[in-house]
Amino acid sequence: MMREHWLAPEHLVYPMFVQAAGARQEIASMPGQYRWPVAELVEEARRLHERGLASLMLFGLPETKDDEGGGAWAENGVVQTATRALKRALPALQVITDVCLCEYTRHGHCGVLHATASGVEVLNDPTLELLARTAVSHARAGADMVAPSDMMDGRVGAIRRALDSAGFAQTPILAYAAKFATAFYGPFREAADSAPQQGDRSGYQMDMANGREALHEMQLDFEEGADMLMVKPALPCLDILAAARARFPVPLAAYQVSGEYAMIKAAARAGWLEEARVVRETLLAIRRAGADMILSYFTPDLLPNGR
Ligand code: PBG
Repeated sequence: MMREHWLAPEHLVYPMFVQAAGARQEIASMPGQYRWPVAELVEEARRLHERGLASLMLFGLPETKDDEGGGAWAENGVVQTATRALKRALPALQVITDVCLCEYTRHGHCGVLHATASGVEVLNDPTLELLARTAVSHARAGADMVAPSDMMDGRVGAIRRALDSAGFAQTPILAYAAKFATAFYGPFREAADSAPQQGDRSGYQMDMANGREALHEMQLDFEEGADMLMVKPALPCLDILAAARARFPVPLAAYQVSGEYAMIKAAARAGWLEEARVVRETLLAIRRAGADMILSYFTPDLLPNGR
């Protein structure tokens, strides 16, 4: 009666990695997380859905990469195939798809790459068309919601227009709106094989030192039509979440990223932290700061029949 916040399956989104080829593989820096072949992904999702899982977020590992990231919008791409299989088997499970190019480009950047005298540069505007194409292909495969994570300027508007004109006016956009450039994504890049080959992401992701700019970035995505706004990473950005809660009427999401997961897992494995309690405390802190939903790799542990 007196508690202000709690965790329920409706608050949680489980991020999962799906691969086009090969057997299930555990991700070394994310113990308990796997790269799943499509058929096994569906079976795992079924087990979790039976225990109360409401939503998952899909990341794809294509069989091959190219310079443009063509696998991202291929009709028979890995995310498209997995989405169709999931929606066919489990129509009530909400499937959110990550819209980005970094898993599909050979260079590992989130957009179109251009070589300059001093290194490389990601071209913002030419990337928008490719992201929009990707989002439409996900919607066509049955995605319930698309989540652009690239951080290009103007992508939410471009994706909204493309979805609308392709007949997907009802498909909502969850924008990774304040996404910081951080080493906390390290384990994910191993999992998704998406580390940039040259340079880093500071040209398009946020500087950890900037809070006001993060709110400005969120404002832009909101004005372009984002239905939900995400802050990422979660625990290092509780101040941003709290400020965003006071400012935006739309639902807020927070992503407890791979590095946050790996830290807790490593300390628990060493016997230095009580994992189950720390997980609950971090997630409650994220809810308290203002998140309506949390993307967390710990989601299976928090379902009614915890594993
Ligand atoms: C793709 C993307 C990343 C994450 C989600 N989408 C990696 C990155 O931007 O380098 C990170 C998620 C995590 O660390 O769990 N752009």
